[in-house]
Amino acid sequence: MTVGGALAAISFDPLAPSAVRIVLVGFMGAGKTTLARRWARSGGPVLWFDSDRATLERLGCDSVEAAFQQHGEAAFRAAERDVIVDRSVPLARGVEVWSLGGGSLASEEVRAAIADACVVWLDAPTEVLWERIAGSDRPLARDKNSFRELHEVRRATYEAVSTVQVDSSVPTEEIGLGRLLADHLPPGWFGSGLAVGDGLTSRVQDIAALCDGPVVIVADRAVARIANEVEQRLTSAGVAVAASQHIPMGEWNKQMATVELMLAGWADAGLHRGGTVIAIGGGTLLDTAGFAASIYQRGVDWVSIPTTLTSQVDAGIGGKTGVNLGVAKNVVGSVHMPRATIIDTKVIDSLPDDALRDGFVEAAKTALLAGDWLLDRVRTVVDTPSAERHVPWLELIEGCSGYKDAVVSEDPFDTDGTRAQLNLGHTIGHAIEAATGGAVSHGAAVAIGMHAALRLSELVLDSPTGIANTWHDLCMRMGIVTTSPLEWEQLAPFLALDKKRDSGGLGWVLLAAIGAPVTGARIPEDAVERVWNEYVRVERNTGSELDASGRGIRVESASPRHPRVLVLFGVNLGELGVRDAEHYGTQTLPDLVRDIETWASSERLIADCRQTDSLERFLQALHEARLRHHAVIVNPGAWTHHELSIHDALEPLGMPRVEVHLSAIDKREEWRQTSVIRPAVDHVVSGHGAEGYREALHWIRGQIG
Ligand code: DQA
Repeated sequence: MTVGGALAAISFDPLAPSAVRIVLVGFMGAGKTTLARRWARSGGPVLWFDSDRATLERLGCDSVEAAFQQHGEAAFRAAERDVIVDRSVPLARGVEVWSLGGGSLASEEVRAAIADACVVWLDAPTEVLWERIAGSDRPLARDKNSFRELHEVRRATYEAVSTVQVDSSVPTEEIGLGRLLADHLPPGWFGSGLAVGDGLTSRVQDIAALCDGPVVIVADRAVARIANEVEQRLTSAGVAVAASQHIPMGEWNKQMATVELMLAGWADAGLHRGGTVIAIGGGTLLDTAGFAASIYQRGVDWVSIPTTLTSQVDAGIGGKTGVNLGVAKNVVGSVHMPRATIIDTKVIDSLPDDALRDGFVEAAKTALLAGDWLLDRVRTVVDTPSAERHVPWLELIEGCSGYKDAVVSEDPFDTDGTRAQLNLGHTIGHAIEAATGGAVSHGAAVAIGMHAALRLSELVLDSPTGIANTWHDLCMRMGIVTTSPLEWEQLAPFLALDKKRDSGGLGWVLLAAIGAPVTGARIPEDAVERVWNEYVRVERNTGSELDASGRGIRVESASPRHPRVLVLFGVNLGELGVRDAEHYGTQTLPDLVRDIETWASSERLIADCRQTDSLERFLQALHEARLRHHAVIVNPGAWTHHELSIHDALEPLGMPRVEVHLSAIDKREEWRQTSVIRPAVDHVVSGHGAEGYREALHWIRGQIG
């Protein structure tokens, strides 16, 4: 057995400041705005706040001159002070740059708002500034003498508040601000563009500075509200949003067909190489959209806005993009770094418990890799009552995303084993997901995979036994199961599909100690089988107690026991809610899916709901149903009336098949009254709206017994 050595700790200093605000101050003409824009565009801080721009927006004016005329200087200063104070909410991680109006520092509140920032004073002789500004319509630059006097007066304030002073008499292109500020910046921030903090979605217009060309927004339909807010903010910042795609995502839609759909929409919208794709959603959306961005016109810029906990601590960071090929996960992909990753930690307050549990698993995995400093933050989350967890979650996300960012910057293309550590627990985790056809969520599968990997580490690395127990304990306290009723024989074929396999077999990631991962370990399959059978596998469904040894929990609802029903929606059914309410009602597909899942669970069934506009994907799903479903419910939409290939795919399926239509197709236009699939189904429900699905599930329960 070959086992790689423990990886050297990566150069990440958890105690170094992880967020920095750089404030550019100085007199008119010093180049604050130009410098901030140039810097933001060239891979510097992605968040850029310009107080003049924000003040004018608040006052509804186009220029400072117009604002002075309409409102007077005092009102301008008050609005300026307010926008700056409002903006002074802290950032948890990342770097942002502010360019402040020359007169704003007269306000004590403004000076207090920048007290902790790194304040850079750009200055040049009055002559130089006057040259730059003369002839402009700035109200305070009308005559040279008063310009000079004002410069003198303000100088004292700039000097008093500044941390660094820069001679800006040279052209701004020559000011290497990054190098100059190196001492003040957190290590490893350059270019990664990661920003973490509460309410960052509302700062998204800052990334306007990155976008030269048109922008397309690609969002998971489940976060349409956030996507609309982003669109509105970009538009009001003057960015042309050429298209906004809201796509129903999920592991199942992480496929080439979805990539094609995205690409076609971008081409239609005229996205060119100078454009930017803004991707908003969880890991599946970000992986798919990031991959599409990496191949569109050989690569366009993209911005990642992760909206689930899992993607905020892991999947949304680091530029790995890709899609599944049928059942094989992530086998097509690329590494395409986003220009910016904006993590708005506010979203965690609205996430359901399941989603928090899934994210927790990835966060706790990252903590075991990173060391005790991060594991302490995991413990704080667990120890805090759930209603008071916002700050502990924020600190955990900040630490995990920062650690992952550092790992990625050391080994961006996953070539030297450093980045591979992030796969801890994923080899078995992916196999569980594949073997159960997605019935076990990614987080739930990784929790079990982690347990297996930690037990394997004890076996082959002699790592301290306490780690697996710690894992089990943390998971148990969050309501996460670390054992599984799957038989080894059900799992093993899927390990063979793992993309980490090379000619030498599978490279396992193990943990020699907390903070000391080992990658590329070659382990004989029988050792893995032994660990699985001895520690991880439990008998199905025998109550929810801890077992005698304290190592496994057996869960009543262990999902593989329940029959799985494939609920397939065909063409145009993703448009529910906006399409022909008279026939189809006002409920959106995500809402209908939620109802179906609830009805299924009260029938002790699992509903696996999927929608596609691609006939190919629809047929493929029916073909694969044989592998992992016990019944199917189909609503093929308009395909019902002519698509014989669906009939042919349904016909040989040896399981209950139900055809459902929301509307009464036999009472509508003549062409809808024919169903070519009818001879291949066992039961039909038509015209009962959403309730029809409840009936179909009930009928299936009766058939399955
Ligand atoms: C439908 C009826 C079809 O005629 C139509 O094309 C649909 C939906 C229904 O659910 O009522 O898209 O299948």
